[in-house]
Amino acid sequence: VILSPQHPLSAGLTSDSRLVRAYRGERADTTPVWFMRQAGRSLPEYRDLRVGTRMLDACLDPAMASEITLQPVRRHQVDAGIFFSDIVVPLKLVGVDVEIQPGRGPVFGRGYADASAVAELTAIDPARLDEASGPIAEAVAQTIAELATTDNGSGTATPLIGFAGAPFTLAAYLTEGGPSKDHLAARTLMHADPGAWRALMEWTAELTGRFLRTQVLAGASAAQLFDSWAGALSLADYEAHVAPASAKALAHVHDLSYEVTDAAGRTQPARPVPVVHFGVGTGELLGAMKEVGVDVVGVDYRVPLAVAAERVGPGVPLQGNLDPALLAAPWPVLEAAVREVLRQAEAAPAHVFNLGHGVPPETDPTVLTRVVELVHEAGAA
Ligand code: CP3
Repeated sequence: VILSPQHPLSAGLTSDSRLVRAYRGERADTTPVWFMRQAGRSLPEYRDLRVGTRMLDACLDPAMASEITLQPVRRHQVDAGIFFSDIVVPLKLVGVDVEIQPGRGPVFGRGYADASAVAELTAIDPARLDEASGPIAEAVAQTIAELATTDNGSGTATPLIGFAGAPFTLAAYLTEGGPSKDHLAARTLMHADPGAWRALMEWTAELTGRFLRTQVLAGASAAQLFDSWAGALSLADYEAHVAPASAKALAHVHDLSYEVTDAAGRTQPARPVPVVHFGVGTGELLGAMKEVGVDVVGVDYRVPLAVAAERVGPGVPLQGNLDPALLAAPWPVLEAAVREVLRQAEAAPAHVFNLGHGVPPETDPTVLTRVVELVHEAGAA
């Protein structure tokens, strides 16, 4: 499927942005940078806007979700917006009883840890998500309309990244009924009842894939799959019980490509919409996470990027991986760490600077702006 000519990629607004070029494996005028959780509690303008609105209600209010997505782009001059939403939004949209508790995370009305609970859950038709996704498509549309007019000095519009939670990370919350440290319920179910596990994973893969596809069709220029908790798994379990479902989810966006027509009226060959795969503590899994069929691998702060480059194999652009803890360190310490990440990244064909996980809520936002400036200056070829 070729994206419509109005899509920011096809229209040539974002196809040569620093971000999309890096995701294609090219180095641009400088290293692109964005931060996981750049939208959120580190910004006073976010905290002001969110007063009196619950998290999931904010995600489903297109004007609010769009405004929150844009706040860090305006403030920090980052090279991408990440769509303000949550990994549990598709579950909420198909009618699953879930809320997000401040300081805790997603909490469900019940856990789905055995075959009968999984059967009840998977009786919900994932196709219902497409009918319920109006607020998502609308929020993306409002966001890209404003992003089309931005330019952080790169000479292109700022791309929007769409995202979804990977099947395992969603299943980790669903089986447990809420956040957990070791994701024991999920790890037990995959062995105790492989049939029920597979049913749960295939169902979440359908939701994840549809959620990603909706965002890309509505105007996102890249998609990131968050398998935040996959680091709890052995490589063998990841490959046998998780990777096939993640690949299935990504199949929903793999057929999406864009064609840019240049000023002379020549249409360039179609290119796929770039896909990124990220997890925490996934040092052992980096090769397998590339193998599920992605263009870019996001790396947490535990593995130096030069080591990650070896693990994912040649030719793979990397994203990451400053330890978020360093955002609270004195500037000279932070500056040295940023430069070290850039140096390590020379081992990869291209690099998108990011943190090794999300921005801590207590982060001073002026520090983030300063990091963006440093990356743009130090990352210039
Ligand atoms: O700026 C961005 O990164 C975009 C928005 C985004 C949110 N959640 C908003 C959010 C993204 C990409 C996510 C993904 C997400 N949600 C993940 C994967 C990424 C990761 O961090 O590993 C996970 C595991 C979740 C589940 C979840 N939702 C958690 C663990 C929490 C934090 C709970 C807390 O209060 O500390 C949430 C809530 C959430 N999602 C917030 C935001 C801005 C905080 C809500 C608030 O402001 O109260």
